[in-house]
Amino acid sequence: MKTQAPVSTNTVWHHATVTRHRREAQNGHRGAIIWFTGLSGSGKSTLAHAVEETLHQQGCRTFVLDGDNVRHGLCGDLGFSSKDREENIRRIGEMAKLFMEAGMIVLTAFISPYRADRERVRGMVEHGDFIEVYCDASIEVCESRDVKGLYKKARAGQISEFTGISSPYEAPEKPELSVNTGGAKLDKCVHQVIEEMTLRGIIHNGKADI
Ligand code: ADX
Repeated sequence: MKTQAPVSTNTVWHHATVTRHRREAQNGHRGAIIWFTGLSGSGKSTLAHAVEETLHQQGCRTFVLDGDNVRHGLCGDLGFSSKDREENIRRIGEMAKLFMEAGMIVLTAFISPYRADRERVRGMVEHGDFIEVYCDASIEVCESRDVKGLYKKARAGQISEFTGISSPYEAPEKPELSVNTGGAKLDKCVHQVIEEMTLRGIIHNGKADI
């Protein structure tokens, strides 16, 4: 499945003989994008890594793409304007899609504050490949946690365009799953995600079919 029309011309799509389907059959589970979205400090990374741990122990092939990490490399040239965030999510979407086509379960942990940007990624893949998980934690809870001390800096005017303070966050209207990362225990949230993935046939009986 191709996405944006490229600027480069005279390129020809090469079809692999080792297909996504063959990779998935070998892995014993489907490839998918589990897209965690929520405010900074809402628990996206914590939850994504905890879900990955569970899946890995069950024999699944997984990878976590994390906002702070990706911004050190692939997206190191981008800031936090709406244009840069849009480009950030576009690149992550393309990368997540490649991982998925490699048969893996890719878990992404980006604020991804704009509905339109998330919907664009959803539209890049087949129906059922993109599972949006809303990490529901209020700005009050995230700010009281302030794990990285960034809310304090944002309030002091030392960080501009900070999500939830001076830049918007658009909560999903119809996510595949909403988890109460602001209040519920981590184990419960992990269980909810694993259950949803099982329900959607990404994994079988909560594990890889191997
Ligand atoms: S996104 O909006 O483009 O999806 P992304 O998830 O990649 O953001 O990066 C968010 C992380 O960057 C935050 O967890 C925080 O550590 C850091 N950060 C630095 N400046 C900002 C800012 N202005 N707004 C939000 N997060 C910021």
